[in-house]
Amino acid sequence: MRTSVIAANWKMNNLYEETVRFFKEFGDTAVNVDGKEAIIAPAFPYLRTACELSKGKNIIIAAQDVYPAEKGAFTGMVGSEMLKDCGVGAVIVGHSERRHIFGESFELIRKKVTFVQNNDWKLIFCIGETLQERESGQLYEVIKEQIYTAFDENLWCDPDKVVIAYEPVWAIGTGVVATPEQAQEMHAFIRKIMGKRYDRENIPILYGGSVKPDNIKGLMDCEDIDGALVGGASLEADSYKKLFMYDR
Ligand code: PGA
Repeated sequence: MRTSVIAANWKMNNLYEETVRFFKEFGDTAVNVDGKEAIIAPAFPYLRTACELSKGKNIIIAAQDVYPAEKGAFTGMVGSEMLKDCGVGAVIVGHSERRHIFGESFELIRKKVTFVQNNDWKLIFCIGETLQERESGQLYEVIKEQIYTAFDENLWCDPDKVVIAYEPVWAIGTGVVATPEQAQEMHAFIRKIMGKRYDRENIPILYGGSVKPDNIKGLMDCEDIDGALVGGASLEADSYKKLFMYDR
C-alpha cells in the first residue's frame, strides 16, 4: 500500500505566534495514524521552532526551498548546513511559484533535486501545467519535460524519499480545483512515466491546487491520488486537521 501524504506549504505566511499555536492545536493528531504522513513546510525563519515543536509527533518538517550548496557566499540563500542545523526532514523543489515568479530554470531545479537526494532528505518535487499549456494541448509534453529534465534515468533513490506533487498552475491559490477526473487522468500518466522510465511506479503522487477540507475526499478517492499538497487551507491547525483526517 502506498503512504498517503498530506503536506502543508505555508509559503510566506504564519509568524512565530501562529506557528506555535498551530503545533499546539494540531497536537498529537498524527502520532498513531497508520499509513499517513504529515509534512509541514513553514518559512525559513520558523523552521527551527517547527522542528522543536513537532518532536515526537510523527510530523516531518520541510523547507520550502534550498540553495544547492552547503554554505558560503550566496547572499539571501539557505543551504544544506543550515537546514540540517534546523533539523528538517524534507525539501520542496520545483514549486510553480519558484518556476514562474523567480524564474527557476530546468537546470537549477535539476541541481536542487540532485542536491536534496544526495543529502538524504525527502524530496517533494512539484510539477504542473499553466492554463495556456493545457488549453493548447501541450499538457502531457510539459509534464514529461518537467520530470525528464529533473531526474536522470540512473539517479534515483528510495521511493520513501520521493514524493511528486502534481499542481496545475491554474488551480494554485485560485479556488479553482481540478476535477477528480482531470487530476486522476494526470496522476495515472505520471505514474506510468515513473514506472516505465524509472521503475518507481509506487512513489506517492500528491495533488495540489485549491484543496480544502470540503473537496479533499473526492480527490483522495481517485486510484492514483495518494495525498495532497495544500497551501491556503493548511495555515490553521483546525483546517489542516480536517485535511489530515479526511476519511474519518
Ligand atoms: P493552494 O496552494 O492550496 O493555496 O492552492 C497549493 C500550493 O501551492 O502548493
